Amino acid sequence: MGFLLAAVGSAVGLGNIWRFSYITYANGGGAFLIPYFTALITAGIPLLLLEFSLAHRFKGSAPAAYSKVGPKWEWLGWWAVVFVMFGIELYYMAIISWCLNYFFLSFGLKWGVDPNSFFFKTFLGLSSSPIKLGSIRPPIALGLTAIWFLTWIISYRGIQKGIELANKIFMPLLFVLTAILVLWSMNLKGSALGIKAYLEPDFKKLTHPKVWIDAYSQIFFTLSLAQGIMIAYASYLPEKANLTRDAITVSLMNCGYSIFAGFAVFSTLGFMATVQGKPIDAVVSQSIGLAFVAYPEAVSLMPWGSMFGAIFFFCLVVAGLSSSISLMEAFISAYIDKFGSNRKKVTTVTSIIGLLGGMVFTTQGGLHWINIVDHFITDYGLVLSGLLESVMIGWVLGTGILRDHMNDLSSVKVGTWWDISIKYIVPAVLGVIFIEAIYSGFSRPYHGYGWGEVFAIGGGWLAATVIVATALSSRPWNR
Ligand code: TRP
Repeated sequence: MGFLLAAVGSAVGLGNIWRFSYITYANGGGAFLIPYFTALITAGIPLLLLEFSLAHRFKGSAPAAYSKVGPKWEWLGWWAVVFVMFGIELYYMAIISWCLNYFFLSFGLKWGVDPNSFFFKTFLGLSSSPIKLGSIRPPIALGLTAIWFLTWIISYRGIQKGIELANKIFMPLLFVLTAILVLWSMNLKGSALGIKAYLEPDFKKLTHPKVWIDAYSQIFFTLSLAQGIMIAYASYLPEKANLTRDAITVSLMNCGYSIFAGFAVFSTLGFMATVQGKPIDAVVSQSIGLAFVAYPEAVSLMPWGSMFGAIFFFCLVVAGLSSSISLMEAFISAYIDKFGSNRKKVTTVTSIIGLLGGMVFTTQGGLHWINIVDHFITDYGLVLSGLLESVMIGWVLGTGILRDHMNDLSSVKVGTWWDISIKYIVPAVLGVIFIEAIYSGFSRPYHGYGWGEVFAIGGGWLAATVIVATALSSRPWNR
């Protein structure tokens, strides 16, 4: 149970709340569920099965497990956990700090009548370009410190008393609070308008390749795949483990949560459109714009809005924390596996480095840095990591060993469809996504930034993860 909830805790994150419903809306509403579940069955569940069985069979985190496939592959395992820890985790924590700040700001609706300029000007104090860092924003830095402290203390307490216990509290809490938001928002006037926009199927959209690409990318991010995360968690499973059933449970809970949370998001947007007399398209937004501009605005229009806002931002903090613990664990367990170090020491040092390194995202240029680093790490790094992972298992190790291992232990047996997925479908899909990302990333400057700053910051950050991964993988094993 602890493992299941921790894996769900990792999968369910900010992306489920602020990304899924928008992607569904933009890609054909209810019709999008067809590519979405196709992606889940042909790539998401197969990769999750791969990671669970690899970690369980070779009893180790990504670098340890990959090195058993062949010493040359150890590097890939390090790269994944290094860019997750020192790339994604660092800015992910800064965003959770914003959510924590907004949780407190909800009481009293501190953003007033113009949440847009409150967020960008007053809260972030956003600079005009990434090379203008300006100063650190004290409330964001303070929130970051608090979030790092929580993550540190949970990891420090170990797997059972820390990570499992935290998720046994966080996940039920998150589901209850989300249910409150869904019921509450569906009772607001205009909510039906929003839900119609969210789910009304437009089957014509399914002929656009981009819709399918979006479905596969979303599945891949949401299940925390190719980042050494699920590998780290599954390496702690006992000898007897129902691997296939667990993988199916985790993915269904994760995707079910996304669909469910979408009702709260779109009911609220429908309410706002109705009150303001605007068409729904004019209020729909995603990610940062949804959480820090649209939602604060909607909340200021509803009775008891402070309370609604506080619950919403609390959900984001809880969903974010349970994911951030898992991002850090991918690295920590890898480090302990290789160097035999003491968990408490590794956790403390890693958290301090993470807090200090993440300070750049709390400056006035922070949002620009988040955009650029996220683009390089997730659009290029992560996709490449998944592609190589599936090639490694499908073509180097061979799928037979892991399939036999899963089938020996599990109640649901896996057939040749799994081999086909790992050998052909996953590499092909990720190959297409990678080429598309390179093509669109290089055809116009990202987000309107200059080429120089994009490559210096994003390319530099990605290159640094390559150097650190190389250094770590070249050290001798201490087991
Ligand atoms: N799966 C979670 C989410 O959807 C958390 C997460 C793990 C994540 N790895 C990520 C989010 C990489 C963004 C990028 O939010």
